[in-house]
Amino acid sequence: MINIEVAVGLAHEQNDDVVVVPVLKGALLTASGEGLKNIAPDVIDDVLQTSTIWGNTGTSYPLYRLQGTQARSTVLLAAGDKTKLTLSALRDLSAKLAADLNQQGVEKAACYLADLAVKDASVADKVQAIVEGAYLGLYEFKHHQSVKKEHTKTLQTLHIMLLSNDACDEANAALVKAKAIAEGTIFARNLGNEPGNICTPEWLGEQALSLSHPSLNVTVMDKKAIEEAGFTALLAVNQGSAKEPRFIVLNYQGGQAGDAPVALVGKGLTFDAGGISIKPSAAMDEMKFDMCGSAAVLGIFKAITDMNLPINVLGVIPSTENLLGSAAYKPGDIITSYQGTTIEVLNTDAEGRVILCDALAYAVEQKPCEIIDFATLTGACVIALGGQATGLLGTGEAVKEGLKKSGEHTHDRVWELPVFEEYQKQIDSKIADIKNTGGREAGTITAACFLSRFVEDVPWAHLDIAGTAWNMKATDISPVAGATGAGVRLLVDYLSRKVETSNE
Ligand code: BES
Ligand code: MN
Ligand code: ZN
Repeated sequence: MINIEVAVGLAHEQNDDVVVVPVLKGALLTASGEGLKNIAPDVIDDVLQTSTIWGNTGTSYPLYRLQGTQARSTVLLAAGDKTKLTLSALRDLSAKLAADLNQQGVEKAACYLADLAVKDASVADKVQAIVEGAYLGLYEFKHHQSVKKEHTKTLQTLHIMLLSNDACDEANAALVKAKAIAEGTIFARNLGNEPGNICTPEWLGEQALSLSHPSLNVTVMDKKAIEEAGFTALLAVNQGSAKEPRFIVLNYQGGQAGDAPVALVGKGLTFDAGGISIKPSAAMDEMKFDMCGSAAVLGIFKAITDMNLPINVLGVIPSTENLLGSAAYKPGDIITSYQGTTIEVLNTDAEGRVILCDALAYAVEQKPCEIIDFATLTGACVIALGGQATGLLGTGEAVKEGLKKSGEHTHDRVWELPVFEEYQKQIDSKIADIKNTGGREAGTITAACFLSRFVEDVPWAHLDIAGTAWNMKATDISPVAGATGAGVRLLVDYLSRKVETSNE
């Protein structure tokens, strides 16, 4: 992994291979650029006046061995319209810059992106966004290629430059936090991108066990333990699979002993063929991503344990495949969940809610202060919100408001859909307590209605990441088409704010 450091100094004094200075639309310089202009006024003035690229965010203008500077190349980087500069834009710009430098074979670079003014953002906020962007923009998933395609890693060191020592401590703290968040996100992406023949429930359990921290305890139940515990709905979905299920419990006691934990529940469906209600074959390979809820939970645990976040967090992951076979559960079957509710299975492809209901009921027994679940739960959510926002539903008003705020801040965004009481009757069953589908109308909401039957009075938020957990087109911040790590930035921010407000 690339080494990112915070450093202080003027642009012309840096001796990294490349020094990057931003220029805003309208040829506007920031402080680092003004400093450079004092050293090489003729060249800088000429370039600013003649070039028209400054509005094209991310475009570079390299100046080779600029007079009075130490670097091989001084790059003027178009940073776009200053009124459009947000932390998200900064994160994206940094992601693109890091990927470009890497592709160009640069080994050491210094960048002055923290010099850009972002409304309401501190230096720490900006450094965090820049560092997250650089790590995430360099993400690769290539270990299955025997001959590696495209570029290999060249960029070894990136200096995030500040012009004075004033904010150095905050910037260094932000760097440490951003690194933990990026590594958590990358962990989630790596889990999501592994195919179903490798990322099995057993393997997912091993990945959970690979997380290590003195205050973290991880337990992985195998099939026998799951039978003994009575997670019968999970077992029903597992019937069609030759692979054993797993039930993973993570307990992080970073906070005060006795404080109720935040419970994070993640759907760990390692491959969803739909079961007997089989899916169409087009794009069925994408259903290897149906464990991205569990990947988010594991990525969050990786980040918060790296950060030693002082909070108690419980993680619960039910994991199985949803396949077809002579033993598979069938449309019409009535199964009894761990909590006792009977479920009429009308569509075996609505399996996520079936495995989650046992995990939610288990989480409730652990007396958490709130529950947040992550699931690639409904195709309807992809239709409603696409890839730009995670669906947010649930009963916990404060939790939901906190997630909205963190979504805005991290750009790992959420959008709320209602869980009006009237929707509940869509899942009432004539012969069991509930059915596992509520029909085509309001599919994302009726899935949440199903889950709501298992959370009792615990404040609860449900995150439907079906549209956000993976993308089929690369972006600057998520440059490998595939798992995005959605939910990790969101929750680390949410939990960090929770710690801050409890300290007030
Ligand atoms: N894992 C899918 C949801 C999904 C579909 C996520 C496409 C991302 C992209 C889930 O298990 C599922 O199949 N849901 C069904 C529910 C329906 C049968 C009530 C769906 O959304 O079609
Ligand atoms: Mn399904
Ligand atoms: Zn599924």
